[in-house]
Amino acid sequence: MTSTFRLAEITTDNVEDALRLSVRPDQQDLVQPVAHSLALAYAFGDTAWPRLILDGEEIVGFVMAFFGVPFDADPPGVTRAGLWRLNVAAGQQGRGIGRFAVEQVAEEVRRRGWSRLTTSWHIADNGPEPFYRRLGFRPTGEMTGDEVIGELELGGAELT
Ligand SMILES: CC(C)(COP(=O)(O)OP(=O)(O)OC[C@H]1O[C@@H](n2cnc3c(N)ncnc32)[C@H](O)[C@@H]1OP(=O)(O)O)[C@@H](O)C(=O)NCCC(=O)NCCS
Repeated sequence: MTSTFRLAEITTDNVEDALRLSVRPDQQDLVQPVAHSLALAYAFGDTAWPRLILDGEEIVGFVMAFFGVPFDADPPGVTRAGLWRLNVAAGQQGRGIGRFAVEQVAEEVRRRGWSRLTTSWHIADNGPEPFYRRLGFRPTGEMTGDEVIGELELGGAELT
């Protein structure tokens, strides 16, 4: 299926609309608001890769990747790359937007030379674990804070 979704950088033209993006009320403890992510992106500079997800001209989601960050238990010199934030707008979920965002991040992670995509998620009844598992992520057995760390091995093929 050809997707009409695309990524766009955050600009002076779209930043106010980006800040209005919101997940469902019952999901708000699962992911930080876009404003929080953009503040981190400002501080982390090139380590962070924040993008809007557009369907035509409509903002339907926000994704932020990270590149070259060590996790708490990593030995010196080891860094990881992956998915930092993913917010699909309430009312837009279930349309393949999350899958599209992960595919785009996977492509960028591969392009920068990593073969594995790391993320983490909250355990909750309405949490994103089934989504990540559906895309092939597997828990590593590690935690970061109160979140489970999961990884996706990046082969040459598309996600399953
Ligand atoms: C989790 C989230 C990003 C998923 O995005 P989405 O656009 O709704 O997901 P998609 O439509 O791309 O789904 C991709 C696949 O995962 C499956 N899936 C998605 N959510 C699922 C769930 N809760 N349970 C089971 N399967 C699920 C879909 O059925 C789909 O499978 P298919 O490709 O075989 O049809 C979105 O629900 C969201 O923003 N949640 C709130 C914030 C959040 O938890 N973010 C993650 C922070 S770590």
